[in-house]
Amino acid sequence: MTNKQIIELEDRHRAGLYHKQPLALVRGAGATVWDADGRQYIDCIGGHGVANVGHANPAVVQAVSQQMQRLTICPNGFYNDQRAQLMTSLTQIAPEGLERAFLCNSGTEAVEAALKFARLSTGRTNVVATMRGFHGRTFGALSATWHKQYRQPFEPLLPGVTFVPYNSSERMEQVVNEQTAAVILEVVQGEGGVIPGDGEYLRNVQAMCQAQGALFIVDEVQTGFGRTGRMFACQHHDLQPDLMCLAKGIAGGFPMGAVLIGPRVGELAAKSHGTTFGGNPVACAAALATITFIETEGLVQRAAELGERLAHGLGAIPSPVIGEVRGLGLMIGIELRQKAAPYLAALAERGVLALSAGATVMRFLPPLVISEKDIDAVVERVTETLTIKPQSVNSDGKE
Ligand SMILES: Cc1ncc(COP(=O)(O)O)c(C=O)c1O
Repeated sequence: MTNKQIIELEDRHRAGLYHKQPLALVRGAGATVWDADGRQYIDCIGGHGVANVGHANPAVVQAVSQQMQRLTICPNGFYNDQRAQLMTSLTQIAPEGLERAFLCNSGTEAVEAALKFARLSTGRTNVVATMRGFHGRTFGALSATWHKQYRQPFEPLLPGVTFVPYNSSERMEQVVNEQTAAVILEVVQGEGGVIPGDGEYLRNVQAMCQAQGALFIVDEVQTGFGRTGRMFACQHHDLQPDLMCLAKGIAGGFPMGAVLIGPRVGELAAKSHGTTFGGNPVACAAALATITFIETEGLVQRAAELGERLAHGLGAIPSPVIGEVRGLGLMIGIELRQKAAPYLAALAERGVLALSAGATVMRFLPPLVISEKDIDAVVERVTETLTIKPQSVNSDGKE
């Protein structure tokens, strides 16, 4: 099938929920993807920060296909070898104290579970979240998500959620009290515009939670599994979250999520939460292969080094359109003084896929296996794209 045929077919049946690029991606390897007409792209979207170990990673492919032939589903009422090994592995790579794991299927499910665990454990219902934070689209996670475009059509949401400015200890201190069940935040805000959290601020929030008997939920759905140059972004700042939400890069592209649970979270009663597919043996095998690959190939260090190379290259672009380049590891945003969408489309024309984070930020989340040569090509093509006269880019991104 051609790009055109696939687009026509999908357009006929889709629910209409997504702004779509006019491209049908049909194949990937490492940091490269191909469209149905055979055109090749350097992928700095990585499935929205999922493909940390690269597209069609051979180790993940082998683990999934072998497990598919052995056992595809094992209810959570039974034990399973892959699940047992994955839980062990996750708790070994996590910050100290996160010794228990709940396995699910996506980021929003991980957040949903963490919020429920916080209520169960504290007996309180109030939650503090941050402005520009994003935690998912199911009702609980949506209630802690800032942007009104996501929230408004579905109100009323969960009561008792208060939003405070990110990176402000003072404002946080005014709202965290003995009625707070949890504070939830990202270590680097992703959807909100690639905004790194300040270390002192994050440690202050953790201390406030501890002082008030509230739980500290760190959402590492986008920042986890090497993305920021540490296995988890909270390790940059020596944080010890009570609940850590994971998904995206956890299983090499296979759908999965997890919540890691610390000692300040009380016992979680049987039947208080659950899932049919969560922790299935195939997802667990994919995650085990992913974590092993990240470790054996040194992808965490690689993300730190290549992230610096990419940020440095992008930061040196002499363009009046650029406001700021910021990020951590291979999670980088370029804040533009104009809308990002036309520039992203123009960049795709030049063979590089990147995504937006809000209206004015171009976001780069490439697979951590991306080559140095591709990083340099990305810098070169972004330079070309951002140094064209802005008025010569129309709303479709065509020059
Ligand atoms: C920080 C964060 N939390 C939660 C989510 C929701 O994850 P999912 O789309 O897998 O439900 C996302 C998705 O972008 C995210 O970036």
